[in-house]
Amino acid sequence: MKRRHFVIGAAALGAGAALALRPRAEAQPYDDYFRALNDELRRNGPARPCLLIDLDRLDRNIDAVMASVRAPRHYRVVEKSLPSPKLLDYVMRKAGTKRLMSFHQPFANADARLFPDGDILIGKPLPVRAAERFYRELQGSFDPSRQMQWLVDTPERLQQYLELAQGLGTRLRINIEIDVGLHRGGVADDETLSQMLALIQAQPQQLEFSGFMGYDPHVTALPRFAGSRDALFASAMQAYESRVALLRSQYPQLWNEKLTLNAAGSPTYKLHERENLSNDISVGSALLKPTHFDIDTLAAHVPAAFIATPVLKAVGPLRLPELDGLSRLARAWDPNTREMFFVYGGNWMADYESPQGLRRNSLYGKSSNQENVTASAGSGLAVDDHVFLRPQQSEAVLLEFGDLLAVRGGRIVEQWPVLA
Ligand SMILES: Cc1ncc(COP(=O)(O)O)c(C=O)c1O
Repeated sequence: MKRRHFVIGAAALGAGAALALRPRAEAQPYDDYFRALNDELRRNGPARPCLLIDLDRLDRNIDAVMASVRAPRHYRVVEKSLPSPKLLDYVMRKAGTKRLMSFHQPFANADARLFPDGDILIGKPLPVRAAERFYRELQGSFDPSRQMQWLVDTPERLQQYLELAQGLGTRLRINIEIDVGLHRGGVADDETLSQMLALIQAQPQQLEFSGFMGYDPHVTALPRFAGSRDALFASAMQAYESRVALLRSQYPQLWNEKLTLNAAGSPTYKLHERENLSNDISVGSALLKPTHFDIDTLAAHVPAAFIATPVLKAVGPLRLPELDGLSRLARAWDPNTREMFFVYGGNWMADYESPQGLRRNSLYGKSSNQENVTASAGSGLAVDDHVFLRPQQSEAVLLEFGDLLAVRGGRIVEQWPVLA
């Protein structure tokens, strides 16, 4: 081959490869669902960033959980993932449960006040001073000696809780965190467990054993090489089983059928259909399905929480500050920079949802005040329309927008304050 032909051929190949790598235009206008929400928000929304809870979709997700968590097993609502009194009340009524899992002392006090006949299991071992504070701030008829389970993970903490009980002149119900493979703490050996159960048994005036908590999200989160899901689940349940066996054989006085044997979380709740050891299943996030919960075990769940924020400015094609050459290059390369918008607020732990194909330009950077959004032609977005995002997780994001807006049939029906 002549050298000139070779050079032309190589150049053509390079151009072809570059074309193949070039991003495709991705913007799509709203589908009917988001078009209706945008119309509603333009008429009746707060004209600032807000968080929508779609009650029709929430209902579907509650039904999915209830179809799985059947009597005699109990459903425990994870309060931190649904941190609004009215949202919690809605879920608890529809699911017919009074059981809550709380992770934060001020929220636990609010739960006790709002749900005086509730049953609260603390989901992580709190410093004993937080427990002390709970008693100091307790209001209403909630009776912790019957309705509260404190989670304890070590003999040292158990000793501290014993001293708290002595100081308060009351009895604390103690649930022991066990390590079923997650290795996020919790009792991992028989000796330690035995030591803790012995202390509880020796102090019946101050301590009452109320059960175990074994959390197992690693079962669905680990990569394949760590083991098959079946094997990981079997191993978690075997660890759980062996702690229960120790309790029943060595501390039979502490055993009774009413103990809370708590397990699961959103990613794994469905797997527990195939075991009959646990009797108390925690689920929170799956009811709203933030993007971190787009996993196969939750295929029956639908996203039910969205951030909506107004478009403030439509400024035309991407223009980076002072970098005209680079902006031209970026526009020539990526059709998704054809239109640039600035929205009200931003920098949330969330992913763009609708219109489809929106993205943040990372050269322009993040902003919590007016975030940039770019799109190819065809998004249909205009000033005062709304950009919709899906939170990546619910627990922190739901607290960032003031009252939640409950939506049914595409209309805003209620405003629900969040926990403080
Ligand atoms: C102990 C425990 N149980 C259950 C859950 C599940 O919560 P969710 O269903 O919101 O993922 C969590 C989440 O952090 C947890 O720490």
